[in-house]
Amino acid sequence: MKVATVTLNPALDLTIRADGWRQGDVNTAQGAQFDAGGKGVNVASFLADAGMTVTATGLLGADNPERFEALLRDKGVRDAFIRVPGATRIGVKVVDELAQETTDLNLPGLTPNNEHLQALQGTLDALAEDHDVFVLAGSLPPGAPQDLYVQLTARLRAAGRTVALDTSGAALRAALQAGALPHLLKPNIHELKFALDRNLVSDADLLAAARTLIARGAELVAVSMGERGALLVTAAEAVMARPPRVAVKSTVGAGDAMLSGLVNARARALTLHDTARAATSFSLGAITRVGAHLPDPETLTAFARQVDVRNADHAQEV
Ligand SMILES: Nc1ncnc2c1ncn2[C@@H]1O[C@H](COP(=O)(O)OP(=O)(O)OP(=O)(O)O)[C@@H](O)[C@H]1O
Ligand SMILES: [Mg+2]
Repeated sequence: MKVATVTLNPALDLTIRADGWRQGDVNTAQGAQFDAGGKGVNVASFLADAGMTVTATGLLGADNPERFEALLRDKGVRDAFIRVPGATRIGVKVVDELAQETTDLNLPGLTPNNEHLQALQGTLDALAEDHDVFVLAGSLPPGAPQDLYVQLTARLRAAGRTVALDTSGAALRAALQAGALPHLLKPNIHELKFALDRNLVSDADLLAAARTLIARGAELVAVSMGERGALLVTAAEAVMARPPRVAVKSTVGAGDAMLSGLVNARARALTLHDTARAATSFSLGAITRVGAHLPDPETLTAFARQVDVRNADHAQEV
């Protein structure tokens, strides 16, 4: 089985360590590091760590692709990114370890033109020849139509391919209103509330909301809730997966890891209970280290065993 990840608005993350820094002042920083980022890039990295055959595509600035190229090369991920003129946006993270605080400055990203979007479509059509699963992840680039994921999903579904989507805001809202829903959805609870414009208070509300998406054609909906875990729903079943307490190094990419775990579990045709365990173990693996990397299989298995999975129709409300 081959997986393609699609990242339309990647970011080159610049993490600056500046303990005790003050806004509006002249500060001394201890160090800085660039890392390739973006949800689809993270998913490609996690899936490659899980031993899957992965191609990464999307739009990448031609001026600064080196970190992305190095990451994909190191992980054995095929690079099918379309280069667009200009530089991939930089996402600045200023980390103050004394104050235990991170400040994020996110730039909007490159604006693709029609020619770039058509090239992307051409690449996806070619990949759809022999890739089984397409993971569409992250925000849309500036100027892209808000129903771009709707169009891509419809085309990939028509080609007989499986589509997983993880996005937010208006792009998710459009995707959930479309005629053809992606097979796999992993919104976090805030994203789902916004997209459905509903105040989902109880676990029963969440379950009902997820079931409306299943009724409209999604096969698996996973609603993640940070340290409270995730609700996984299919047409046949619903389970709540509660993670154990762990020492968190960085929660960046927790959701991307869960999405990767869902894709991997689906490829292995696991039961919904085991899918919940596996997907949560990927998240736990990700948050107990820095960067989009999985721990060794033994550590993942140990995490999977510690996840509390129960039928959501009988689960205790928290
Ligand atoms: N503090 C935590 N402790 C234990 N598990 C956590 C914690 N934070 C996240 N997780 C695990 O990771 C999963 C996904 O996390 P979350 O709901 O925060 O995703 P997200 O908001 O999509 O994250 P992102 O998009 O930033 O990667 C959760 O369902 C849970 O299993
Ligand atoms: Mg997320």
